[in-house]
Amino acid sequence: MATQPVVVIADPIDANAVALLRGGPCDVVDATAEGALAAHLPNAWALVVRSRTKVTADKIAQAPHLQLIARAGVGVDNVDLPAATARGIRVVNAPTAATASVAELSVGLYVMLARNLYQRISATKGGTWGRSENGTEIGGKTFGFVGYGRIAREIARRLAPFGVTVLAYDPFVPSVSDGTALVPLDELLARSDFVSLHAALTPENHHLINAERIAKMKKGAYLVNAARGALVDEAALVAALDAGHLAGAALDVFEVEPPKESRLLGHPKVLATPHLAASTHEAQLRAGRGVVDEVLRALKGEPLQYLVNPAASGAPR
Ligand code: MLT
Repeated sequence: MATQPVVVIADPIDANAVALLRGGPCDVVDATAEGALAAHLPNAWALVVRSRTKVTADKIAQAPHLQLIARAGVGVDNVDLPAATARGIRVVNAPTAATASVAELSVGLYVMLARNLYQRISATKGGTWGRSENGTEIGGKTFGFVGYGRIAREIARRLAPFGVTVLAYDPFVPSVSDGTALVPLDELLARSDFVSLHAALTPENHHLINAERIAKMKKGAYLVNAARGALVDEAALVAALDAGHLAGAALDVFEVEPPKESRLLGHPKVLATPHLAASTHEAQLRAGRGVVDEVLRALKGEPLQYLVNPAASGAPR
């Protein structure tokens, strides 16, 4: 029988962060091996996950002592928040860890799309010296951010030297002071040369970018998604690319990961990456350290910095 709270690490996080946790007032269990988690849920006081482990209501029910779920990353769509909240289990994340990494990747993707680099690099390496195809500059273009949180604001800041116009749609942001124009979604879609998604996935915005909304996008516009795959109706996107309505798409995320038989992967107008926007050395260091700091605060009874579900604190235990 454990004498200290048990912290179960379900997905691999930075090794230095784990070492720090091992020095804390807890027993740390490494349950990162395939199939290892189930045996440790009954004793878990805290659970540390990245995106691989789906913290379902069923798993929560198997963990009667669970007090804290720590998500080493931004999105908490892999955690059943209502189930955790109802049990009084607090959920924390590391919302700032990947901001710079995702912002850098996004700017890279815009340039890749504008210059058709993905196709042109493979053609050049394959022996085709195709200098006659013209790309475009991103300077002077209009960027529309769907969701205007930390990441989108950081991208806007990094795009400023390019001389672009930035629009944003975010129903949770009443005003901004960085020069970005907050506009209704339809207006953003109609005006943007690049529509870039930066919203958390919720039941309300599943397939937010569907056939109807894609039809409202400018002809020849680009779609970029480094947020969550299910924000986009993938079949509608393929149809719009096939029809020539959209010039291209850069997708770091897919509705099912890894994608199975996705027509998007093989599509010539799609630049695809394997959900790697946050996969930098720096972001993973920050994510691991961020959640370990939160677990240590919780163990000491200190206030948490990045509590996702404040309502959990008032729930009966
Ligand atoms: C995040 O939400 O932190 C990123 O999408 C990366 C991940 O899911 O691990």
